[in-house]
Parts: sequence; C-alpha cells; structure tokens
Amino acid sequence: MTPEFNFYGLNFPELVLFGILVYVAAIALVIFFAYCIRYRVLCPFSEDLVHCTYLNSRLSCPNCSLKQSGRNIRSLIETGINNYPGIFKLWIFSKLYCVVSEPKYHEVVLTKCLGKGELYEDIKSVIGHGLFTAPYDLWKKHRRAINPTFNQKVLDAYVDVFHKNSQALVGKLKQIAGEGQVEVYNLVLKCITDNYCETTLGMTMDDQPGNDVRIREWIKGIFDAISKRFLVPWYHFDVIFHSTNSARRMRSCTEEIHRYTKEVIRKKRLLLEETKQEDQSKKKSFLDHLMEITYGDDSKFTEQELVDEMNSFLFASAETVTTTISFTLIMLGLHKNLQDKVLEEILEVVGTTRAVDKDDLPKLKYLEMFIKETLRLFPIAYIVGRELHEDVDLGDYVLPAGASVVTSISATHTNKEYWPDPYNFNPERFLPEEVAKRHPCAYLPFSYGPRNCIGAKFSMMNMKVVLASVVRKFKISTSYGSVRDVEVETSLVIKPKNGCKVELEMR
Ligand code: HEM
Repeated sequence: MTPEFNFYGLNFPELVLFGILVYVAAIALVIFFAYCIRYRVLCPFSEDLVHCTYLNSRLSCPNCSLKQSGRNIRSLIETGINNYPGIFKLWIFSKLYCVVSEPKYHEVVLTKCLGKGELYEDIKSVIGHGLFTAPYDLWKKHRRAINPTFNQKVLDAYVDVFHKNSQALVGKLKQIAGEGQVEVYNLVLKCITDNYCETTLGMTMDDQPGNDVRIREWIKGIFDAISKRFLVPWYHFDVIFHSTNSARRMRSCTEEIHRYTKEVIRKKRLLLEETKQEDQSKKKSFLDHLMEITYGDDSKFTEQELVDEMNSFLFASAETVTTTISFTLIMLGLHKNLQDKVLEEILEVVGTTRAVDKDDLPKLKYLEMFIKETLRLFPIAYIVGRELHEDVDLGDYVLPAGASVVTSISATHTNKEYWPDPYNFNPERFLPEEVAKRHPCAYLPFSYGPRNCIGAKFSMMNMKVVLASVVRKFKISTSYGSVRDVEVETSLVIKPKNGCKVELEMR
C-alpha cells in the first residue's frame, strides 16, 4: 500500500491549489509595488493637476461632443476635459496619463516629446518599426530620409492615378444611384486601397487580380481586433486578448500583409536587376523612391525596414482617408446649400467631364475648407500619445518623466473659446483671415510638430480628386437631421457608427 501524500497536513490537490494561490498573490504584489513606486515617484510632480479617475469621470458632461456609442476612451477623456478644462491627470493602473487640450500645451508637447508610448504597442506588432511607431532615434533618421519623397512634384505625379480610380468609383456608384439609402464605405475603401497599391507600392490591381479584396480583408481584420481591444476592458490584459479569435485573426492578417509586401519588394528588386537601370519615363512609387535613397551613414533601407515603412503607410492611410471621405459625404448630404457651393466651384474649375488634374487642386478652395470643417468635427485620429522621457515644462505645470501625454484633438476642435457654436458646420471658419486669428494648435487633425502626419498633403489631394469626381456626378442626401445625430464609433480611430449611408441621385 503506497503511503498517502501529506505535506504539513495538505494532500496533493490542496497543495497544488495552495501553490496557485501563492503564485497569483506574488504577481498581484509585484504589480501593487510597481504601482506604488511609480505613484510615489510621479505623484509629487503632478500634484498640481486635478485627478480624474474612471470613477469621477462619470461627472456630468452635458455638452460632451458628438453622439457616441458605448463608454469608451474618447468619452472618458472628453468628460474629464469638460470637468477639468485644459489639462487633467488620469491613472490607469500604474500608468499616469496627462491629458491636455489647450493649444498652448499641444504646441509644447508635440514639438518637444517625440517618442511614442504604450498606446501604440498593438500597432507596433503590425507595422514594426515603421515611421508611425518607430522609436525616437530610428524615427529621426528615417523621417529625415523619407520627408523629401513627399514633395509636391512627386505628389503631383499621382493625381492621374487618383483620377482613374475615382472614375472607377463613380462607375460603381452609378449602378446604385437612385436606389434610396446605400452603404458606400467599402466602395470608397476599394478606391483608396487601389490608390495605395499604385502610388505607394507601384502595383496596379490589373497586375494582381483579387488582391484588392484580400488587402481590404487584412486591414479589416487588424483594425477590428485593435478596436475590440480598445472597447472591451478585459482585453487590455495581454494574456486574455492574445487568446481571443480576434487576436489570432490579427496575427494571421499581419503575416499575410507582411508576406504580400515582401513579395512586392522581391519582384521590384528582380525587375531592377533585370533592367539594371530604372526606366526614367516610368512613374515612381514611394517604394521605388525608398529603395533608392540612403540615410544616416549612407545606409540603404533593409528589406524589413521597407516592409515596415510600406505597412506603416498602408496602416496610416487606408482607413483615415476612407473615413474622412465618408464623413464628408455625410456632411455634404446634411448641408445641401453648402453642397451647391462645392458643386459650383467644381464646375467652374474642372467642368462636368474633364479629368481633374494637378493644377485644379489648389483652385478647389471651398472644397478644401469643407473637408477641413469635416475634419474639425470628425478628426479621425482624435488623440495622439507621447511618452515623457524627461520632465516637460508647460509653463503652468511640469509634466513628469515616466508619464504619458495624451493630446485630445477632438476636445480642442470643439472648444468654444476657439470655435464659437462648435457644432454648427461652417467651412468659412477656414477662410485665411479666420485661420490667422486662431492659435496654430487650435486645429490639428494631422497632429503638429516634427512628428505630424507625413501624408497630410497627399491625403488632401487624394480626397479632393475623389470628392470632386463624385459631387459633380451625384446629388448627395442623407437621413441624418443634424451633425449631432451622426453617431461615431470610437476605437483607435473614429468612424460613422452606421457606416457611410447616403442617397445618391444622378445629376
Ligand atoms: C485624412 C487622412 C489622414 C489623417 C487624418 C491622418 C492623421 C495623422 C495623425 C493625427 C498622425 C499623428 C499620429 C500620432 O502621432 O499618433 C499621423 C501620422 C502619420 N501619418 Fe497620417 N493621416 C492621414 C493620412 C495619411 C496618409 C495618406 C499617409 C501616407 C501616405 C499617412 C501617413 C502617416 C505616417 C507615416 C504617420 C507617422 C508620422 C511620423 O511619426 O513621423 N497619413 N497621421
């Protein structure tokens, strides 16, 4: 007979249970001590700031922004700002976030703090060390090298691509015009991803049938997973999130995108070797430019760096541009009198049938003001995060090294001090004389400072071509009654909750 297991009076299952409890308690203690140490170190620095927690952020917020679905990071931040204007601090577990919404604070933070922080960890798993998420030293070298490729001459050369794909979009919209409310988000996304493939990678969809659908599915898989992580509180814990189907899908979509981009780069290299010399008459994509340039100590971009940069562009451009066009279409439908003004300008500058060309774009001034007003009310990237590697003096407060700063773009864009009657849609706020009266950081949909959006000009040109092509062919209506009726879904970026539903009528 085998002797019964006994350890200080505990049998085997009890001992296992005891072990697990000790393990969990040890982890909890480590987290608790980490929290205490960080709190003790950071608190005295930030004691001037009003403290807002998830609980006291439930204070009233009668004028809080647009309709929002569910409780989310954006409503939390905006509620805080509504109660503690300008700046407040927020502890989430052991992490201190200083949330700023005053233009003068944005100016300091976005000029001095150039490191990205924990907010960007999930994106990093997708785009590695591309510009969007690169650590400061690498970012500085790459940004300096890539900046010149976004010059006006390079961008002008892409206008005919934007026009061609906009015509394809118009063709698809014609098939559903007159059918009442239609959902057009995916059609716009196709146009924008086609633009990405041609301008950024230099591949047309004719070269790779079916890939446009796959690319859109990969982007969706990744955005859906990251969005879920933002919205579901327990998904903030890595162990839980990474065992979900969404996380598994995100990993497989990321692998597919990497494989695809690597394959494009491999083919390009082969082509370059075969022809030895680039055909000078051929339009160059961003990838062609990046393969040519050297940076820092004469290094060329490695294959992995090229993959990361290309994916960074894809990640930063497809959803942002598509969503901005979607919100603009909804705003056009909501403000028929302003739509007439947009149309009048398009007909005067481009006419009804001619292709939109590069010289037309600077003349489409009212359309640009219309897009800017849309981006004021619906800034797709509604917050920007920065890590503080050293104390930063804002004049009124000192933000402590070790904390993170969140600049709330959406809150600044609806601050009555800079935007009287903020929910009144009025493109004339962007007349040059009105812009001159405002603080430069009162409006920052593309962020501000050295780490602002590298694609700002590119996207404005792209959006103008698409919108000019659509508006001159279709009268746009929507069933929304006012700006405040447009419910937004907030995750990493904001989106119209019910998609881009509009009614189109042929002109
Ligand atoms: C309406 C369209 C767009 C909006 C509203 C937008 C907005 C922004 C914002 C707010 C940032 C700063 C993000 C942060 O610091 O967290 C950013 C960065 C960036 N954007 Fe855009 N973006 C748009 C389109 C594009 C396009 C078309 C491209 C590429 C061609 C692009 C490429 C990038 C890149 C690479 C960065 C990182 C820059 C850096 O860290 O140096 N974006 N964008």
